[in-house]
Amino acid sequence: MGQAGSREEKAVFPEARQKIDDTPLLHIGGRFEDPGRVPGMRRLRPGSAHNVYIPVLPQVASLPGGGSDWMAQNVIDILKQEHEMVLSQFSELSSKGTSNRRQKYNSIKENLIPHMIGEEQAVYPRLMESGMRDMALEAIEEHNAVRTLLGQLDSASTSEEDVWVAKLKVIEENVEHHISEEEKIFPQMQQKMSSDVLSSLGSRYEEAKRSAMPVAAR
Ligand SMILES: [Fe+2]
Ligand SMILES: [Fe+2]
Repeated sequence: MGQAGSREEKAVFPEARQKIDDTPLLHIGGRFEDPGRVPGMRRLRPGSAHNVYIPVLPQVASLPGGGSDWMAQNVIDILKQEHEMVLSQFSELSSKGTSNRRQKYNSIKENLIPHMIGEEQAVYPRLMESGMRDMALEAIEEHNAVRTLLGQLDSASTSEEDVWVAKLKVIEENVEHHISEEEKIFPQMQQKMSSDVLSSLGSRYEEAKRSAMPVAAR
């Protein structure tokens, strides 16, 4: 996505500035605006031929969450929900006697890895720009540690359950620690960023995460 939209936009507005993530800008009242921030506009699902923005119908806009899973949601709300989900998945899998262990482990990774990539690509760069560089750098290192541990568990056999569970628990502890540190950043984000910025960041996070998911899961 983005390429067709860029060409289209440049043809209409040759002087239009193009943002890093290739989101086209709307020309409103002599200014270029991010359509994601314009009240009453919503973006069509990525994957369409162009970045197309359409008006939100009043009855849809009044529904909780805007009535669409593609309405911008505050990035903090999204991340908190996903943290809860992944922690509950870890909790189930770290109990002994769990069935379908490998399948459940794969399911954790399918959630956790796109979540980390979404944060690295969309959220952490914004933290760095907003005076929270050290926190973002530490979070990236914690992600890397989790990836290393996941890589080790990938090649471990599930036949010795107690050994496998011990390894999983170490990953769980790392993820819990990381999430607790990450959530300490949220109040600062709320202080430093407007709700429009947090919603726009929510959209960018969802896009980055989606691009990191297996095609069938998008
Ligand atoms: Fe997170
Ligand atoms: Fe994270």
